[in-house]
Amino acid sequence: MYRVVTPQTESELDVYYKLRWELLRKPFNFPPGSERDEYDSVAIHRMMLAPDGTPIAVGRLFVGGDEAQIRFMAMLPEYRGQGLGMRMVADLEQLACEEKVKRLVMNARQEAVEFYRRCGFLEVGEGPVSFGRIPHRQMIKSLSPLQTIEYRPQWCQDLTTRWARGIPISEKMGVHITHYDGQTFHLKANLAANLNVHDTMFAGSIYSQCVLAGWGLIWLQLKEEGLVGDTVLAEGDIKYYRPVTKEPEARVAREGMPAVLQPLREGKSAKFSLKIKLFSGSQLAAEFLGRYVVQPSKRS
Ligand SMILES: CC(C)(COP(=O)(O)OP(=O)(O)OC[C@H]1O[C@@H](n2cnc3c(N)ncnc32)[C@H](O)[C@@H]1OP(=O)(O)O)[C@@H](O)C(=O)NCCC(=O)NCCS
Repeated sequence: MYRVVTPQTESELDVYYKLRWELLRKPFNFPPGSERDEYDSVAIHRMMLAPDGTPIAVGRLFVGGDEAQIRFMAMLPEYRGQGLGMRMVADLEQLACEEKVKRLVMNARQEAVEFYRRCGFLEVGEGPVSFGRIPHRQMIKSLSPLQTIEYRPQWCQDLTTRWARGIPISEKMGVHITHYDGQTFHLKANLAANLNVHDTMFAGSIYSQCVLAGWGLIWLQLKEEGLVGDTVLAEGDIKYYRPVTKEPEARVAREGMPAVLQPLREGKSAKFSLKIKLFSGSQLAAEFLGRYVVQPSKRS
């Protein structure tokens, strides 16, 4: 299993800086020492280890107020192209989320711009030219996706808070709402926080993400209708089509709502099914059919 660790001892830090130099400075004939800067003593350092313990990638996160900067990110050539770089960025992003920062910023070399785009960064302008000869592009990624939700953003915020208080696993899974337009609802999770021993997403996490997506849409629809109710899952059937190796997104449409919620107005339980699709990047990876029951709330 590939692991991302924090180098701590002097010898671990030696290995980490040596790899940073070999991957990012040696190719330009810069001497050892050129791979360090004045923020290293206060930054968070991460290193990826292959299953046999070989250090294969480095990356650094520097947190300053509302922003965190990713720097010194590189992967050994023989391990590139397997999604591991993306996983390393997801790990740094998770740390940034834990530090409650609002956005990630970075200066990407031209040849790495596409990689960071795939990681969800946007190109926002010209960056510095390092050592007078390595041009960079400035890139940014908002970590407050709710800011991009135009329809009912406050309700989405309230739902996130509700989950954080009432369903703690949602925070551990790194779930976050990425879309709501009154009809459809999208919920992402952090892949790095949900891996199994095969380095793909744990089946139980996929199930939980689907259940939460359905639950979240119902919660929002109840609000739309001015109804209160307690939602439980009565039955769930999931089909796993392919391993999830990219940022997972669960998508659900309101289908029969609001009509199926009608019994609540008569003090009865509403029972209905929702189909939730889970995507790994752009590929359909699982389908969940959940039978939900919304009971009239016993709370006043
Ligand atoms: C940039 C780097 C860290 C990417 O690591 P990696 O492990 O190869 O990246 P991944 O396999 O996770 O790639 C994720 C996606 O980005 C794409 N990608 C990665 N590098 C790319 C590149 N140079 N050009 C275009 N696309 C690229 C991959 O094809 C993949 O796309 P997919 O999701 O459609 O399959 C690695 O190439 C590297 O170390 N480069 C040299 C150092 C460097 O440039 N560091 C960045 C300094 S700013």
